[in-house]
Amino acid sequence: MLATTVGSIPLPCCIYNASGPKTNSIEALIKIGNTSAGAILSKSATLNAQDGNELPRFINKIDLGSNYCNGSMNSEGLPNQGIDYYINDDALLQIKKCNKPYIVSLSGLTLNDNLEMLNRIFSCPFDTINGIELNLACPNIVNKPVIAYDFDQLDEVLNAISKLINATKKITPPLGIKLAPYFDPSHFTKAIEIIIKYSVVKYIVTTNTIGNAMFIDAELECAAIAPRNGLGGLGGGYIKHTALANVYMLYKELVSSGRTDIDIVGVGGVHCGLDAFELILCGARAVQLGTCHWTETGDCFERVSSELKIIMQNKGYNSIEDFRGNLKPYIKGSKQISKMSMNSNLKSKDKDDIPNTLLFVILPIFILFVLIIFPYISFSIDFVGLRNHYFISTCK
Ligand code: SIN
Repeated sequence: MLATTVGSIPLPCCIYNASGPKTNSIEALIKIGNTSAGAILSKSATLNAQDGNELPRFINKIDLGSNYCNGSMNSEGLPNQGIDYYINDDALLQIKKCNKPYIVSLSGLTLNDNLEMLNRIFSCPFDTINGIELNLACPNIVNKPVIAYDFDQLDEVLNAISKLINATKKITPPLGIKLAPYFDPSHFTKAIEIIIKYSVVKYIVTTNTIGNAMFIDAELECAAIAPRNGLGGLGGGYIKHTALANVYMLYKELVSSGRTDIDIVGVGGVHCGLDAFELILCGARAVQLGTCHWTETGDCFERVSSELKIIMQNKGYNSIEDFRGNLKPYIKGSKQISKMSMNSNLKSKDKDDIPNTLLFVILPIFILFVLIIFPYISFSIDFVGLRNHYFISTCK
């Protein structure tokens, strides 16, 4: 029911992990492999291992209210073990045993680093790496602007990568690019205008965190994290609605440019099946869990998937293609179904059944009780009372 394809990579389930939380080591990736996640996506690798920014560099479990996903903010600065760690023979062998597509995320510090890492991936044995997610949107690298916001650089990077892939004389894993959130309609148009020039781009992942947010410890009157004067990328519940809009707008741009062959993976603030449902409705073919995977165990993949399945069953959908991209414009008079009300529908469908239960079960039992059982019991008690009275008095 939740099977899908992303850039022609078949995924048994459309819910999988985002690159970032709990993806740094092979052990962590294997843990993901042992959950219901539809794929295993590595931490964004740089050419060489790096420790990332100074600590503390993340905040999670920022409560946005009982019905909303926890928010998060991080300025990790791409701590990772270097590309070779994620693609060496032993790592690939171990990950292969999980029987799930393996997608390697890359975030080179320079274009040449990205090209070098791609070359190394291309020389791995066929079918050990099933996809590449090129992260063009990390907001946390000191003195490195986000490529996805610099359209000339985006064009230049895709052009160079395209040349490399086209010159490679073997089948290469499908390439996806991870974008930053856009906020202006002209930016969606511009980004797609560039992306569709390069047939090597098979899918888009949107969105990375919203960069340069800030949390403050008001008691100590200081920034809440250490790197970059306290600035970090906002994730989790805070950005769900930005993620929805980004999936929707990019999907619309792809449709109008006739390029629906480029898939979209939605990420940002997904905490429950309903969040995933909404992203798919906006056009996503798969959905990643980031903050949610960070704050919960790997069980979140199973939980979100089964919640999504319940929503689909209730709506009569057999596959995500039955509703993907079918978001309608506002309908006059429609109720704004809040996440809260949908959640209570989801969790306790029986609540809806209370009126029916009252009418068809409790009421008949009550009537039966009043008409038959109650008189019978009263009679029996009376009868026993009489009999006792008689018995006791005769014994005397
Ligand atoms: C990081 O390591 O800074 C987070 C990854 C990202 O935002 O791309």
